[in-house]
Amino acid sequence: MEEVVQKKRMLSGIKPSGDLTLGSYLGAIKNWAERADEYDCYYFMADLHAITVRQNPADLRRRTLEQLAQYIACGLDPEKNTLFIQSHVHQHAELGWVLQCYSMFGELSRMTQFKDKSAKNADNINGGLFSYPSLMAGDILLYQPDLVPVGEDQKQHVELCHTIARRFNGVYGDVFKIPEPFVPKVGARIMSLTNPLAKMSKSENEDTGRVLVMDPPEVIMKQFKRAITDSDTTNCVRYDKENKPGVANLMTIYSACTGKTFEQIEQEFDGLGYGVFKPKVGEAVVETLRPIREETLRIMKDKAYLEGVFRDGAQRASYVAEKTLRKVYKKLGFVAK
Ligand code: TRP
Repeated sequence: MEEVVQKKRMLSGIKPSGDLTLGSYLGAIKNWAERADEYDCYYFMADLHAITVRQNPADLRRRTLEQLAQYIACGLDPEKNTLFIQSHVHQHAELGWVLQCYSMFGELSRMTQFKDKSAKNADNINGGLFSYPSLMAGDILLYQPDLVPVGEDQKQHVELCHTIARRFNGVYGDVFKIPEPFVPKVGARIMSLTNPLAKMSKSENEDTGRVLVMDPPEVIMKQFKRAITDSDTTNCVRYDKENKPGVANLMTIYSACTGKTFEQIEQEFDGLGYGVFKPKVGEAVVETLRPIREETLRIMKDKAYLEGVFRDGAQRASYVAEKTLRKVYKKLGFVAK
């Protein structure tokens, strides 16, 4: 008889607070798409997280749907992956609240993202921005995943999720499985094209050196032509992250788009200089994003299909989430319905 092996579970989410960038694709979604056969995967649009910063309602709605279409266009097959919208699965908000009561004020105050965002949104340092990691811990622990792929900037939140889960388990027994954060190596961190020391962010404006998945080819080429290389005058394509972060970032992007190693790239552009290198990276990005952009536009037109995907996804996600939430409520001493 064939043995049924339980697949490992993987979960991640992206906030629809800005349009997806090349960084979100190369750093996250591309790697997710390759894991569908190995893992039982859950991916969601983190709209509850998005409202910790003020959002324009029409933009939030469009971006949430577009993000779903982009997930699919990037190769996340909705049959094999559970794709859903966070606010459609009410258990997230509920477990998020419970876990706020197991997150310490001091811990939440120490989160780098909270400090950064408070500085950037000084007129709106709200409670949600502060307790964001508790909600994120809820997102994760509801599904008892083995692996949570995140960018470098979210590792601290996943670590806090461990602390919260251990604290809860310490009081109530083994309720939560402790997941591993997983930061993919190549393409894990795509930096801004104009400031290679800062992550390419979806929340910033065009002039900050970002490339969007939906940007047309001319815009992508323009962004790469004006990308910062380095301040030395060697004009030499060589991987040196410390001293040439701009060039290293462009090499990372080129490598992720073409599959070439850094050594191969150094050879390819040996003696050719940045003037040749930069447009070549641009072209590789244009070709990588073209099919995704076209497929996204096609899917966006098919509203009925998209609705079917997110309804089905929410149903599948709720089934798993509800099991965990019931267990938690029971442990806490809440009276059963
Ligand atoms: N906080 C993540 C980000 O800013 C998004 C997110 C929300 C997430 N909940 C999550 C990621 C759970 C992984 C797991 O990008």
